[in-house]
Amino acid sequence: MKIGIIGSGVVGQQLGLGFIKLGHEVIIGTRDVSKLSEWKKTAGEKGSASGLKECAEFGEIIVLATSWAGTENAISLAGKENFKGKTVIDVTNPLDFSSGTPPKLAASFGNSGGEQVQNRLPEAKVVKAFNIINAYTMCNPGREEGVPDMFIAGNDKDAKKIVSSFAEKWGWASVIDLGDISQAFWLEALAILWINYAFQTNQWSHAFKLLRK
Ligand SMILES: NC(=O)c1ccc[n+]([C@@H]2O[C@H](COP(=O)([O-])OP(=O)(O)OC[C@H]3O[C@@H](n4cnc5c(N)ncnc54)[C@H](OP(=O)(O)O)[C@@H]3O)[C@@H](O)[C@H]2O)c1
Repeated sequence: MKIGIIGSGVVGQQLGLGFIKLGHEVIIGTRDVSKLSEWKKTAGEKGSASGLKECAEFGEIIVLATSWAGTENAISLAGKENFKGKTVIDVTNPLDFSSGTPPKLAASFGNSGGEQVQNRLPEAKVVKAFNIINAYTMCNPGREEGVPDMFIAGNDKDAKKIVSSFAEKWGWASVIDLGDISQAFWLEALAILWINYAFQTNQWSHAFKLLRK
């Protein structure tokens, strides 16, 4: 498949390599393609970089991996029409760094980042996923202490199946569907739990698992 990743940071780059490992073609969209010159060398012939509009046009599936502050502008530069009917994997976290670190959650129940993205792109199938984990383990989830679970939320069942399939191929133990896009709030809150623990302990490789008896 053709995957358009809007976001040139560590998340976009790591997910890009993960999709390429699964055999997909990837374009990372950015306002400055020179940022991706090293990444392109690692990615090989299936990976390239472009402006945001070209990236969104290219992607049969689009990943949103921008800083929260830049997300609205990035969507607008990519062209809302280019998201129509597509699965959009929303990895963003609505973080407020105005008081320093750790950041605060800039969202509330009923107005999560995931819902804001879905509202901006009403004809897209937005799935919140991979936002509760360090970028470097998104496509490489196994740990010495076990294999964690990924939690996702979104309105469209087929889009969630597509996202689950990527996660399973990358090695996540289970993909837990929390329900519609309103549940994105809890995923974003979970990301804050992850971040707070990281700042308190200076550990950055933890992950979540749902255990049953
Ligand atoms: N880092 C992690 O481990 C991690 C884990 C889970 C979730 N997340 C979330 O994933 C997202 C990406 O994180 P990241 O660390 O990879 O990168 P980041 O530094 O948070 O964001 C970089 C991206 O945001 C874009 N951007 C910033 N301001 C913009 C603006 N005004 N207009 C358009 N685009 C703008 C940049 O575009 P240009 O390339 O054009 O400059 C770049 O592509 C964030 O929402 C973050 O909270 C991060």
